[in-house]
Amino acid sequence: MSAAHPIAPCDIVVFGGTGDLAMRKLLPALYLRDRDGHLAEQTRIVAVSRAGLDDAGYRDKVAAELRGFLPADCHDAASEENFLARLHHVTIDIAGQDPWLELITRLSEEPQAVRVFYLACTPHLFGPVCAKLAESRLVNEQSRVVLEKPIGRDIASARAINDEVGAVFSEQQIFRIDHYLGKETVQNLLVLRFANALLEPLWNSGAIDHVQITASETVGAGSRAGYYDTSGALRDMVQNHLLQLLCLVAMEPPTRLDRDAVRDEKLKVLQALRPLEGPDVLRATVRGQYAPGLVDGEPVAGYLDELDGKPSTTETFVALKAEVGNWRWAGVPFYLRTGKRLERRASEVVVQFRPVAHSIFPGIADEFIAPNRLVIRLQPDEAVRLHLVTKEPGPGGVRLRQVPLNLSFAETFDSRLPDAYERLLGDVVRGDPTLFMRRDEVEAAWQWTEPILAAWEQSGTRPKRYAAGTSGPTAATALIERDGRTWHEEDV
Ligand code: BG6
Repeated sequence: MSAAHPIAPCDIVVFGGTGDLAMRKLLPALYLRDRDGHLAEQTRIVAVSRAGLDDAGYRDKVAAELRGFLPADCHDAASEENFLARLHHVTIDIAGQDPWLELITRLSEEPQAVRVFYLACTPHLFGPVCAKLAESRLVNEQSRVVLEKPIGRDIASARAINDEVGAVFSEQQIFRIDHYLGKETVQNLLVLRFANALLEPLWNSGAIDHVQITASETVGAGSRAGYYDTSGALRDMVQNHLLQLLCLVAMEPPTRLDRDAVRDEKLKVLQALRPLEGPDVLRATVRGQYAPGLVDGEPVAGYLDELDGKPSTTETFVALKAEVGNWRWAGVPFYLRTGKRLERRASEVVVQFRPVAHSIFPGIADEFIAPNRLVIRLQPDEAVRLHLVTKEPGPGGVRLRQVPLNLSFAETFDSRLPDAYERLLGDVVRGDPTLFMRRDEVEAAWQWTEPILAAWEQSGTRPKRYAAGTSGPTAATALIERDGRTWHEEDV
């Protein structure tokens, strides 16, 4: 999280350079960094794929697609021309046996450049790609490797991948990306908690009743259904993004903002999660799968239709109740919820405080005084809202109403909020891994997640169907209502 400064000249080699992630996220992010003057003149982007393109062919492909993935008002012809000139393409079948002569030649043209190998390919190729990079003598002390999630699909495969990558790169050179950590409002969670004296004394089970973490999407699995069906919402979203958010909410204050101080504290939270195993899993989790329905008034297909009718028990929705077994959080549930094809797109962290101890207002019982609630809206409409109780203006008796103190980022700050990948790619080149997952964090997250997957499988039950465009299975509502609480639903 160091302040931005010019990024050293580098060669960014993207394996999977014509893929969805490269086109939708990585190239637009690099273009925007370039446009803002953050890429050194010599910096090159070398895409690796099987596409059989030369540099010109790749530049044409990117030119045709780039604009569609940029925020409004961020495209201009001069910046695009400058950016396209940085692009190169090398054809390699990474699953094949041929030597990587062309890549070796290309990279040897800039022997001093920092080399970033971005593996935007399927995780089972992470090990083989790293081995081949070593065999091709392309890795030096200045090199870094970026691994896209998922790192494996369980603890054993995650360890195997980490071992294979670790045989070539040291832990300091490995950047396991979780793009949620690059989101402005997620970074802001750290600032909110540790740059304001107000919250920390209340940040514990004495004052907090429970926490909700929601990442709700309107999109379906769509063209990613092939990958998604091997994954599901627990692996795709909970094991990484939602648990990382939970860590930032629950961790102890790190002594300073540096790579290990922050990650040590997050690791302790993951290790303190109470295991969910066996029958507890069925009580504390709900999984769902979307059926056809209406999203934003448009009819959409069900998940199984997107798989062409292939039977599948993959969950597209998860809600669960987690607990952090430590002194600060004992007895405070963390309700997590994520799903695709839901009625609204909204990611947020909600911290629900306890009610007042005693009502002094005549005729208004304690339970009618709405407890304070802090809502950190990650997207869209990034905001921090603190719901407070005030008196409704007017004569006569005292009427109370809950209203939010609203810090809307769009209204408060003039500047564009950068995409998470812009921030994170800059950190990779600068060599700052604070916002990346360390090996032990990834493995601890799997350690907690894996028994849930196992219990679901052993139970022989199927995910509950929910109509697309709704808030998910009714069992998810029941999960939290059983505890006398409700999900926070707020239209912004
Ligand atoms: C990715 C998941 O990591 O995050 C996708 O693989 C999901 O399935 C995406 O759609 C959500 O990211 P964001 O930034 O749109 O919330």
